[in-house]
Amino acid sequence: MSETDADLDRFPAGFLFGTATAAYQVEGSVHADGRGPSIWDTFSHTPGKTRNGDTGDIACDHFRRYDEDLDLMTELGVGAYRFSVSWPRVQPTGKGPASTDGLDFYRRLVDGLHARGIEPVVTLYHWDLPQPLQDAGGWPERDTAARFAEYAAIVAQALGDGVARWITVNEPWCAAWLGYGMGVHAPGLTDVGLAAAAHHHLLLGHGEAVAAVRSAVPAAQIGLSLNLGVARPATDDPDDVAAALRVDGNQNRMFLDPLLRGSYPADMLEHYRGRLPGLSVIRDGDLQVISRPIDFLGINFYSPGTVADASRAAQANAAGYCVPDEQPNPVSADLRVISVTRPAFPQTAMGWEIEPGALTELLTRVRRDYGQIPMLVTENGAAFDDYVEPEGTVRDPERIRYLDGHLRAVLQAREAGADVQGYFVWSLLDNFEWGFGYSKRFGLVWIDYPTGTRIPKESFRWYARVTQEGALPPSGNDAGSA
Ligand code: FCB
Repeated sequence: MSETDADLDRFPAGFLFGTATAAYQVEGSVHADGRGPSIWDTFSHTPGKTRNGDTGDIACDHFRRYDEDLDLMTELGVGAYRFSVSWPRVQPTGKGPASTDGLDFYRRLVDGLHARGIEPVVTLYHWDLPQPLQDAGGWPERDTAARFAEYAAIVAQALGDGVARWITVNEPWCAAWLGYGMGVHAPGLTDVGLAAAAHHHLLLGHGEAVAAVRSAVPAAQIGLSLNLGVARPATDDPDDVAAALRVDGNQNRMFLDPLLRGSYPADMLEHYRGRLPGLSVIRDGDLQVISRPIDFLGINFYSPGTVADASRAAQANAAGYCVPDEQPNPVSADLRVISVTRPAFPQTAMGWEIEPGALTELLTRVRRDYGQIPMLVTENGAAFDDYVEPEGTVRDPERIRYLDGHLRAVLQAREAGADVQGYFVWSLLDNFEWGFGYSKRFGLVWIDYPTGTRIPKESFRWYARVTQEGALPPSGNDAGSA
């Protein structure tokens, strides 16, 4: 191995290795201490909405077993843990005074992390909107953004002493477009106009929360986590190229432009004109709020995407792509696109293509188009069909290969000038994977759901070595043969 190869496998001192979870996916104890219902309680308890009717009622029982999970993190050697605060635990109805008991759980968690030398990274909104706020209209209503800012202020005041890094909103694309446009996430609505209005108010809520957190915790580092995509045209036909541009607009530029440039992209404003209420909800001054300076951009990345114009399924097929038949959903119908996959590429258990180089492409694109901004990969990981061996171990070489590839992609993006300062594996634990219930396992740790028993997988041992050495095993080794 040459000197340069060695450098390429090594992360700089201070690079933040972490792991991530979200409240509704792991906590359980949904009625403890007066916690109110969120849209995910309602959605998961609605027949037919989640795989096997699974709910987050118990999940990983992290609310009661968090100490054991903190000990696992010590073993994992991570420098940071990204978790989310459940809004209805803190404000059971989404407004009014805070629940002291609800906040106390997060105080204990933060203290437990500090006691172990692990930095807490707090996400304020990972999709669990208090149900009463949805009953009043939810994110398509402007008032929800104001309520969110109030809640953000409460949490920042309560935890500000112990938390330096804050993420306002996780994946507003999913909250708006999967939740209000496609109906596959809570609250389960299928209206493109509502989704676009929700999109704007989630960004507005983010901007208001930036100010709220900053005033409570002046030294805070604040950002948000976006699930940005790499949208490629299936062919170089102009119609497919235009289709990919529409997807890029919806998934990437409709976030990055308002956040980092203070304006929505003209093609998307044009596209959503007439989808009401849609972007007609934008008011004077909103873009100034949305573009308040942030300290870092969180990027969640799993898989690239290839799209074709909706009229060109046959041509995409002839060009060698698989065209799944469960599309289009209301959002892709509105964008007039279909998603296709490339048969030659390996996929995860979610059916997501694995292509680590796409992460390098994405990180360097953000750097190129939006300038230098510190970035954290706040989620990356993969579900596979893990199982427990008769002797009690879980061997997951595919996950090790996936993580190895994507960590190398981060190093390559850094080499190319992107300021990526940290990386968080999704997820510490197998957990409630939203509409897929417990059928998809993303954890470094296996959860035996009936008993709550935790079994660190082989990938856990592998990642522990990476965090300890600050470097990847030399490339060329079969990453999967740990
Ligand atoms: C992201 C979510 C996270 C998890 C992963 C697999 O979209 O932020 O909660 O479900 O996907």
